[in-house]
Amino acid sequence: MGLVGYRLSLDGVILRCSVCGAAYEPDPWLFFCPRCGGVFDVVLEEPRVTRGFRGRGVWRYSELIPVKTQPVTMNEGGTPLIPVPRLAEESGVGAELYVKYEGANPTGSFKDRGMTVAVSLARALGVRRAAAASTGNTAASAAAYTARAGIGLTLVLPAGKVAKGKLGQSILHGARILEVEGGFDEALSVVVESVKRYGYYPLNSFNAWRLEGQKTIAFEVYEEIGVPDYVIVPVGNGGNISAIWKGFKELLEAGLIDKLPRMIGVQAAGAAPLADAFLQGLDHPLFKDHPETRATAIRIGKPINWAKAMRAVRESGGVFVKVSDEEIMKAQRMLARLEGIGAEPAGAAGAAALARLAAQGLLEKGERAVIVVTGHALKDPEAMMEAPTETLHAGSVEEAVKLLGLH
Ligand SMILES: Cc1ncc(COP(=O)(O)O)c(C=O)c1O
Ligand SMILES: [Zn+2]
Repeated sequence: MGLVGYRLSLDGVILRCSVCGAAYEPDPWLFFCPRCGGVFDVVLEEPRVTRGFRGRGVWRYSELIPVKTQPVTMNEGGTPLIPVPRLAEESGVGAELYVKYEGANPTGSFKDRGMTVAVSLARALGVRRAAAASTGNTAASAAAYTARAGIGLTLVLPAGKVAKGKLGQSILHGARILEVEGGFDEALSVVVESVKRYGYYPLNSFNAWRLEGQKTIAFEVYEEIGVPDYVIVPVGNGGNISAIWKGFKELLEAGLIDKLPRMIGVQAAGAAPLADAFLQGLDHPLFKDHPETRATAIRIGKPINWAKAMRAVRESGGVFVKVSDEEIMKAQRMLARLEGIGAEPAGAAGAAALARLAAQGLLEKGERAVIVVTGHALKDPEAMMEAPTETLHAGSVEEAVKLLGLH
């Protein structure tokens, strides 16, 4: 074992810089544009579906996933699309609403869709050590998938800023953890250096191959309900919203659909470099040095995929919105108590934007919108425990029975 070779093909794609547009051969070790430093898109030269979609989960769409190798998989993807009429009504939204529940992935977030592709590629390349910076969910997912692949993993985490569930997963799956003072942006710069200096294989979303897995969210939505009018996505680094947009565009190029959704990017008010720029009509992000939000998964001030995320929103005729932490926590409870859906705070950011979007004249009757709930409530136990509740305590069975009679 360990010396087993896996066949690998990366044919039919080019790497195109998301900032300056320069094109390169698909070198799996090239992550930043030699000309301008921008991150890449993996561009399929000719997206085509001839065999049809087969099997389940992410790899059901293997015709459109350019990493051809034996996958490291746990049947990630195939998550439920759930109608949420009570949430729509309570939020004052006329549109028909659905939640794409990414908490149902193996490690509880959408990251697994990307990780199955990135780790499969890493294994086929013979990688021995990988690295990832993370607000937590990438860490949990990378830890699980590298464990499965037998690849060593170092996680670079912002000290004291990772939700308990995610840190617990990273520990459980056996990753080495390097805590760094500062936030996610500092942790990410450590990983970038580790790639350049020591040849660690990066599992962050600046690795564009990972996003090839995440675009399958679009494929699943399309197969279930066709093309919605809106897709609402919480945005941190901007990888996921750009991946979902790319997925819909590939369906269009392949001739399977004839319209595209509008992409709505949602950021937390204290960590909104893209939404701030958008609201001021700028095409460049307003990077933020000390981002703050209770939704730690999107506590990111310098999104590395900023150019792609901006393009997804602009090209699609969508918008960026900011929501407060109070709105996020309220939305988490609404999802939980009106619809039974458990989201971590960042996962509830899309739902938190509903009222604001309706006030802007969006999400009208006769339209359909999909809210991507990106992570499971169990990820952040402390956030769950902050919800108001009625807890009674009884010292004995007799007293407990009596208490029930009073209510
Ligand atoms: C739960 C959750 N939601 C949203 C995001 C943001 O995704 P992206 O960084 O691709 O914009 C993350 C990223 O860590 C996340 O963990
Ligand atoms: Zn470039």
